[in-house]
Amino acid sequence: MTTVELISTPLAKIRSDALVLATTTGDQPGVLGLADLPKQARAAVESAASVVGISGKLDEVVKLPAPAGLGVPLLVLTGTGVGRDAPLTAEVLRRAAGSATRQLAGTGTVTFAFPLISADDAAAVAEGALLGAYAYTGYSGSPTPVAAVEVVAADAKDKATRAAVARAAVVATAVHGVRDLVNAAPNDLYPASFADNAKELTKGTKVAVTVLDDDALRAGGYGGLIGVGQGSTRGPRLVKLEWKPRKATAHIALVGKGITFDSGGLSIKPAKSMETMKSDMAGAAAVLHTVVAAAELGIGVRVTGWLALAENMPSATAQRPSDVITIRGGRTVEVLNTDAEGRLVLADALVAAGEENPDALIDIATLTGAQMVALGNQVSAVMGTDDTRSSVLAAAEAAGEQFWPMPLPEELRPSMKTPVADIANMGERYGGMLVAGLFLQEFTAGKPWAHLDIAGPSFNEGAPRHYVPKGGTGVGVRTMLRLLEDAAAGGR
Ligand code: BES
Ligand code: MN
Ligand code: ZN
Repeated sequence: MTTVELISTPLAKIRSDALVLATTTGDQPGVLGLADLPKQARAAVESAASVVGISGKLDEVVKLPAPAGLGVPLLVLTGTGVGRDAPLTAEVLRRAAGSATRQLAGTGTVTFAFPLISADDAAAVAEGALLGAYAYTGYSGSPTPVAAVEVVAADAKDKATRAAVARAAVVATAVHGVRDLVNAAPNDLYPASFADNAKELTKGTKVAVTVLDDDALRAGGYGGLIGVGQGSTRGPRLVKLEWKPRKATAHIALVGKGITFDSGGLSIKPAKSMETMKSDMAGAAAVLHTVVAAAELGIGVRVTGWLALAENMPSATAQRPSDVITIRGGRTVEVLNTDAEGRLVLADALVAAGEENPDALIDIATLTGAQMVALGNQVSAVMGTDDTRSSVLAAAEAAGEQFWPMPLPEELRPSMKTPVADIANMGERYGGMLVAGLFLQEFTAGKPWAHLDIAGPSFNEGAPRHYVPKGGTGVGVRTMLRLLEDAAAGGR
């Protein structure tokens, strides 16, 4: 991965491949931090910016030959999207930095000289720059991301600043790991290979891994994973990950939907809707990398991660609409639509996670198309018990990810009633995201719980923007890590 370093070098003495300054919007778009440039360069930068014309808008990245007085060949002006008087929040810094590294792919060392007032600011620039320096290189030679990032800070030796930047690097590595898994082709990433990947990733870390294969799942009464997975030649898996620090203050269970490909099963999807369904394991990928990062950061809470892995395929062995399955713990479900498979594998995993009596259950899933109808592809939904839902929202806000609270209206529950089982896997069409949430709630045994529906935000089908590439985005990791840190700090 791209490296990151804090420096306090005067701008005139910097010898990297590009120096990046931030720009602001308004009637007179401006360049921030001009005062830090050597005198003779100031006016030159200002006039170059006005000759070329800058707007300061987010994702505007203007490249100029560096003026005399600077030791770098390239001067880069990246838009913040905010006016001169607006606060440079952490997320504004992340996006401006990420946009620059993304659009500077192929460059060696890139130096950021943004106006920073805290350790968190420096970390935000580092995080954004690293998040933007991503390329998926699984199957073709893509442009190489920026090789090294330097962040100019007042005191590069400051302990708090160094720690915050080191954390940013761990976070970015985790997000990149999720993107790589989501972008992997589903002929290569299937339940067993996903489980192998989890074993490989945790080798040499303090995360313990257990894998239940088809036989173990059948023996354990995991009817949801078995039912969804039985149409595929590649059997389901349940992966349990555990990070258990010596002095854990709390225990949080993270459960991820890991459908490595969702064809819909016999309730098959139209071809167009299937195209992005390799990303239906983004929740499980986020859980895997969150647990690994939590261990790497030494976060003081016990974390168990549960990856509910299956491939949802139509075949002569696939489950049928109207099949009745038994979820772990004994509750029965009539499968009216085999495309509502996520809630079935999650039900098994939520029950298993709950058996250990964690202080909170968090599940994350690309669960419903209705999430995208409601909130689009940049805002994720969170449902659950009041406390835990609020904790997730606070963590998301602090982490710079967009989550919005959604209700679980009791009135929708009867729509899942069926005469042949305890519950059906489908209900009222309107409010489909909430119906799915209500279904999951049945398997949480009343514990503190939050359900994160990331269907839209997990996969970017459109153009890349700021630090978000095309394809897998890695959404959820930053929020869950912050949530664990908050829990370790005894908050909420
Ligand atoms: N994986 C899909 C949800 C999804 C759709 C995620 C689009 C990302 C983008 C899920 O398994 C699904 O198919 N849900 C159905 C449920 C319905 C049959 C009750 C849906 O949302 O249409
Ligand atoms: Mn589905
Ligand atoms: Zn699905």
